Amino acid sequence: MRTQVAIIGAGPAGLMLSDLLYLQGIESVVLERRSRDAICATIRAGVLEQGTVDLMSDAGLGGRMRREGFRHEGTVLRVGGVDRRIDFVELTGGRAVMVYAQHEVIKDLVDARLASGGDLRFEVANVSLHDLASSRPFVRYSGYSGELQTVQADFIVGCDGTHGVSRAAIAPRALQTVEHRYPYGWLGMLCKAPPSSDELIYALGDDGFALVSTRSLQVQRMYLQCDPRDQPEDWSDDRIWSTLRARLATGDGWQPKEGVIFDKTVIGMRSSVTEPMRHGRLFLAGDAAHVVPPTGAKGLNLAMSDVRLLSRALIRFYRQHREDLLDAYSATALRRVWRAQRFSWWMTSLLHRAPGADAFERKLQDAELDYLTRSRAACTALAENYVGLPVGPLWD
Ligand code: APR
Ligand code: PHB
Repeated sequence: MRTQVAIIGAGPAGLMLSDLLYLQGIESVVLERRSRDAICATIRAGVLEQGTVDLMSDAGLGGRMRREGFRHEGTVLRVGGVDRRIDFVELTGGRAVMVYAQHEVIKDLVDARLASGGDLRFEVANVSLHDLASSRPFVRYSGYSGELQTVQADFIVGCDGTHGVSRAAIAPRALQTVEHRYPYGWLGMLCKAPPSSDELIYALGDDGFALVSTRSLQVQRMYLQCDPRDQPEDWSDDRIWSTLRARLATGDGWQPKEGVIFDKTVIGMRSSVTEPMRHGRLFLAGDAAHVVPPTGAKGLNLAMSDVRLLSRALIRFYRQHREDLLDAYSATALRRVWRAQRFSWWMTSLLHRAPGADAFERKLQDAELDYLTRSRAACTALAENYVGLPVGPLWD
């Protein structure tokens, strides 16, 4: 079969791209390795930048997000038990974030795409990419019942995440990957409890980081710094709660509201960028090209800003027969990616205790935190990066 754009991967990047193209009359086929149920149940981060919120709304997908998500106009930094609130709205001229889980975004995108007759193919296997340097690239895969299928397209977009096949289809000599690993990980957990706080709390205690986030009025999401080699079984419920209580303790006795923990995962921390994000008629978007550590929750937002740019470039190609935005895609996307990498790295280094840090590094970290709690300029820098740097227009 033939389509205009073949998209590999039904994560936020692939699904949003398919939807944005559909809204402008461009056909696509989305090929996804996992089942619909599996993609709708995968637990990931949950903070949408202002630009992602606007993108969801512009694409007509903002209804449930606005009803069920939580608009957060600030966040709390808790260092050594003392709170400093960062007021996003005041510091950024009215911008804020939405706390709305990534799997809810996925559900909204899948529902919308299926309702508009979108071609989403789940549980495909053995995806391979061919003739990327020609103007007739194609994808081969095995369908649900094992039959071999071919999709010919004008363009292929690799939205298949960090372990996908798209990036691997490009000869290593044509790409450059820069990577950084952090000496700590996060234990992420979900529990049945009411919210502990109206806003997220990013805390640094003597022995490490803790984060209080939320999912709903009944379910809370919290994280704590751990050894990246830890297994979830290393963390009993008692150990999790006592560590959270210690790292989050304040002078006036604040404590997180406790409840039954029903999910535990260990998340590694890595920064990685592959450039360029294009090879012939193959474009990479989202985690297929770059990974950020979870502090600041930039992964989903970067995936969304990539496909926003790419959809605009593809629309210009089909409408005006111009390739200028396609040619500029990689460099334009990478500028934002590197700014988000810088911010994620900075926020991560600021709020974690690095094993083996020497006295000098520890003093510098104290000084950086001290500056942040006293300087409006430093708070503004945090706020404008957290709510997301401005994005260009969605459509011409
Ligand atoms: N064939 C088809 N689909 C694949 C293949 C493959 N060979 N490999 C991976 N996939 C699918 C995965 O199953 C997944 O559903 O591609 C999708 C990639 O989705 P994500 O990993 O979510 O990546 P992306 O859409 O770029 O989203 C950005 O930001 O918050 C972070 O990591 C978080 O998922 C988030 C990401
Ligand atoms: C989340 O709610 O999952 C979350 C929130 C903020 C982060 C990372 C993850 O910085």
